[in-house]
Amino acid sequence: MSLKLIKIRKETQKALALLPGDFKELYQTLYQKKDFVNPSNFMDKPKEKQKFEDRSLDITLRPKIWDEYIGQSGIKKNLKILLGAAKERQEPVEHLLFYGPAGLGKTTLAHIIAKEMGSSLKISSGPAIEKVGDLASVLTNLSDGDILFIDEAHRLNKTVEEVLYPAMEERSLDIIIGKGPSARTIQLELPAFSLVAATTRIALLSPPLRSRFSGGIFRLEFYSEDEIGQIIRRSAKILGMTIEESAVKKISSRSRFTPRTANRLLKRCRDFAQINKRDSIDANSAEKTFELLDIDEKGLEIADKNILLTLINKFNGGPVGLQTLAAAISEDTATIEEVSEPYLIQLGFIERRPRGRVVTPRAYEHLGIKCPTQDNLL
Ligand code: ADE
Repeated sequence: MSLKLIKIRKETQKALALLPGDFKELYQTLYQKKDFVNPSNFMDKPKEKQKFEDRSLDITLRPKIWDEYIGQSGIKKNLKILLGAAKERQEPVEHLLFYGPAGLGKTTLAHIIAKEMGSSLKISSGPAIEKVGDLASVLTNLSDGDILFIDEAHRLNKTVEEVLYPAMEERSLDIIIGKGPSARTIQLELPAFSLVAATTRIALLSPPLRSRFSGGIFRLEFYSEDEIGQIIRRSAKILGMTIEESAVKKISSRSRFTPRTANRLLKRCRDFAQINKRDSIDANSAEKTFELLDIDEKGLEIADKNILLTLINKFNGGPVGLQTLAAAISEDTATIEEVSEPYLIQLGFIERRPRGRVVTPRAYEHLGIKCPTQDNLL
C-alpha cells in the first residue's frame, strides 16, 4: 500500500478547489459534495426556539470584560493569569475546556477570552460538526490567533474527535483520502488557533480529548444568591428599569442560582410592569409575574414538580432508574439530566444513588407532602 504524505498550507478552500488531481480528491473528501460548502453551515445558528428580541437582549446583557463579570472568582483569577502570560509571550492561549450546568456563562467566558486576547471568536457546536469534512471546513477557515468555540462538545462524534486530537496538539489536520490500497494521508498545516470547548456532560468526553486541553479544564459552579442579586441589578440598569430590593430578592431566590434564568425572569417581570404601566419592578408585580408563569418560591417549574411528584406518587420516592423515570413522565433522559436534575440535586431535593433517583425529606417538606419514614425511603 502506498501512503503518500503531502504537506500543504492553504489559505482558502476556494484556492484548494482550483487545484488539480490529488488535491481535487482531497477537496471532495473534505467537503463531500461537488459544490463549495460554506463553512458558516457549521457555525453557530440562532436557537430557533428563542425569540429574536430575547436573543439580542441576552447579548446586550452579557458581560463583555472581566470587571463586568460577576462570580466564578476562582476561574476568573486563573484565566487572567493564563491570558496575561500568553499575551506577554505573544502566543495564542492554550486550549481550554469549560463544563457545568447550562446557563452559567461558558459562552460568555469564551467571548471575554477572545476580547482580552484581541482575537476573533468563531463559534460552532458538537451537533453542527457532523462529519470530518465539517470540522476540516471550520479549521481551515481559521486565521492565526483565532479562538474556536465549540459548544456542546460532548456531542462530537468519535471520528470527528479523532481528527481534532492532532489539530489541537500539532496544528495538523490529517485526512485519509480514498479507501484500501490507494488510501493516502494528507496533512494540512493549520493556523495557530486556540480551542475553547464547553460541555454540560464532561463524563461523555473521551479521556484522550479531555487530556488535550493543555490550558486547563474548569468547572463552573452555581452562583450564590448574592451574586445573582448583583447580576439582576446590573441587568435592570441596562434595561433602563428601576427595581426595588424586595423584587431583586424575589427574582434571585427563583433564579436556580443561574444568571440566564435570572435574566429571563427579570425580563418577564419587566414585561408585566410595562403592560401595567409601572416604571419600576416591585415585589408585588414580581410575585404576580411568577404566579402567571407558575414558578414557585424556589424557582421550581411544572416540569420539575412533575419529576418530584412522579417519584413520590408512582415510585414511593424511589430509587428509580433514569430510563424508567423518563418513560413515566414522557420526557427524554437528556432533558432530565441536563435541565431539571442539576438544580434539584443542588437544592437537595433528589439524590442520585447507584440504584436510581431518590426524593429526599426536604423535597417532601417543600411540596407539603407527609414524608414516609426514612426506612421506607431507602
Ligand atoms: N450576565 C450573565 N452572566 C453574568 C455574569 N456572570 N456577570 C454579570 N452579568 C451576567
